[in-house]
Order: sequence, then C-alpha cells, then structure tokens
Amino acid sequence: MTQLTITPDHAPDQVLLQTGDFDIIQRELAAIGVPLARWRADAKLAADAAPEIVLEAYADSVAALNARYGFQSVDVVAMYPDHPDVATARQKFLAEHTHDDFEIRFFVDGAGVFYIRKAGKVYTTLCTAGDLIELPANTTHWFDMGPKPLFKAIRFFTQPDGWVGHFTGDPIASRFPAYAGAAA
Ligand SMILES: [Fe+2]
Repeated sequence: MTQLTITPDHAPDQVLLQTGDFDIIQRELAAIGVPLARWRADAKLAADAAPEIVLEAYADSVAALNARYGFQSVDVVAMYPDHPDVATARQKFLAEHTHDDFEIRFFVDGAGVFYIRKAGKVYTTLCTAGDLIELPANTTHWFDMGPKPLFKAIRFFTQPDGWVGHFTGDPIASRFPAYAGAAA
C-alpha cells in the first residue's frame, strides 16, 4: 500500500504527517507539484521478466502516456533480491539528485521509496504496484529500493539519453531512515 511520511528536512524523526490514505497522499503531493495517480497493474510477470515482456504487458498504458507526453525513450527497471547489480543499482539512486527531465515512474510490481525534498520538508513516499508518480524537472529527491529490492518500474524520458542525474552533494539521504524493504 502506498504510504507517505512528511518530516522537516533537518529532523527526520519529527513526523508531521504519516498516512496510507491514497487521497490524502495524492493531495499532499499535488500541493508540492508532484502528480500521483493509481493505474491498473495486474499483469503476472516473473521477477526477472525481460523489459520487452514488461512493456508488452503494459503496452496500452505506455501508449497512453506516450500520447500525453511525447516521450523519447521508455525503459524498465526490474530489481529482485538476487539480481547481480543490487548494490550498485541501489547506490546509484540513493544520493540526493535532480534531473533536467521530469522523472515519471509507473510501478507495475513491488515497491520502492522516493524521498522528495521541497520547501524544507521531505516527503517519504512508498510507491507500490499501480502508482504512477511524476517528479517535475529539477525536483530534489533520492530513491531507495532497499537492500533486497523487489520492484518493476517503467521509466519514461523526454530526452533520448535517458537517466541523467545531477547530484547535489548533500548527504541528507544518510540522515533519513533507509527503506528496509517489503520483506522486513
Ligand atoms: Fe531521480
């Protein structure tokens, strides 16, 4: 289930709001310019399903999003606990960064946590299957897939070179609770 925890960015322990109510989560994220929607994600796919299989299963959703935004590229991140690149993949997204492109993710399986920093607060957002989240360009954020990641997310890019992160160098992520994972 999708979850949101809001804390001051300087006080990760000071919980201002914690909720699993999707409507409230949607409203809180909309207030900081981050659209969140709930889409159908009920395809039964193997943990290590190839990207083309995932894209085929969600071809209608991908086409609808492409029609809306005119994406230049689409890919799939699929992680599972014994994936050979777990440690590297987790670290890549774990430091605070921004993008020139917006970051849109359609979670079709499993879960992962976006930490979105805005106006002195951090919005810790556990995204689960069916969540379509859109971080506008230049949104300060990081992402934790957890030590034993299990998720699939379709990524959409308006720039042909795909994922390019600008790291802020702020170690804030290390002060926030890491995502323990669904199995914990
Ligand atoms: Fe990012």
